[in-house]
Amino acid sequence: MKCQKIIIDTDPGIDDAMAIFFAGLSDKLDLVAMTSVFGNVTLDIATRNAMVLAEILKQKIPVSRGFSKPLVQIPNPVSDYVHGEEGFGDIPAREPKSKELSIPAHEYICDLINANVGEIILCPVGPLTNIAMALRHDPTIAAKVKSIVIMGGGVFSGGNVTEYAEANIWNDPHAADEVFAADWEVTVIGLDVTQKVICSHSEFSELSRNVPIIGSFLEQATEFYIRFYKEAVGIDGCQMHDPITVIATIYPDLFTYEYHPIEVCLESPRIGETIICKNKKRRPAKVAVDVDIDAVKKIFFDTIKTGF
Ligand code: RIB
Ligand code: CA
Repeated sequence: MKCQKIIIDTDPGIDDAMAIFFAGLSDKLDLVAMTSVFGNVTLDIATRNAMVLAEILKQKIPVSRGFSKPLVQIPNPVSDYVHGEEGFGDIPAREPKSKELSIPAHEYICDLINANVGEIILCPVGPLTNIAMALRHDPTIAAKVKSIVIMGGGVFSGGNVTEYAEANIWNDPHAADEVFAADWEVTVIGLDVTQKVICSHSEFSELSRNVPIIGSFLEQATEFYIRFYKEAVGIDGCQMHDPITVIATIYPDLFTYEYHPIEVCLESPRIGETIICKNKKRRPAKVAVDVDIDAVKKIFFDTIKTGF
């Protein structure tokens, strides 16, 4: 199979790190670029962390800086209680040797899609600000991208930040609504499926024994992440939101889907809720409603173990 080109738009973040490692190490994916966005951490930290992850992978992956705040609303606080102050739990900050690109993320996304018509899967795993701005900058990208596979929302599950809203949508609901309104092939990998895929500390410890550099990074980072899940959610492990979204780009058949047009609630108290449109005419999105849990976990760990 020809390598699938992918752009990851990201706010790294511990599960973002897992997603980026997976994409960098899968022989089925060509991670052509990363674009950074505020969310789990500030934009400065997100941009720096994306470059650091490329260096840990020992790969030259271009990183372009995106937006530091949402389109309309006042920014929510960063999620340092989930991902740590510097984004990777208790792992201290580290400065990358590489430099970010000078082109802004939304323009870079458009340039890459225009240069690779029909070939790129766009995979946003943070707030959708850069993607909405890319669509405003060049609406023709909707027809030129192969598809967009989004980590965000929870059409049937409810939220994880509020009763209604999932974090990525809650951080920029207006941008998310613009993205769902566009005429393109959208797959939604939301909490409906991501909350079902939980990994334990012992699984990361085993990874660390097999692939010391990446494994020990994830083992150390997930200690913090799993502590959050234990205290806030009451589970002994962490949810694998972003990595399973990247897995869905190349293993779509491990998920089952329903097709619904989606809109985002923009009014309090349900702001950020992803709901099935009743009155607006929108192209139905492919909404993942179930997942083969064991299969996606096996693909994740096997790819990291054998790819590095
Ligand atoms: O709700 C989970 C999502 O929010 C993940 O993308 C996580 O990294 C955070 O950005
Ligand atoms: Ca993320």
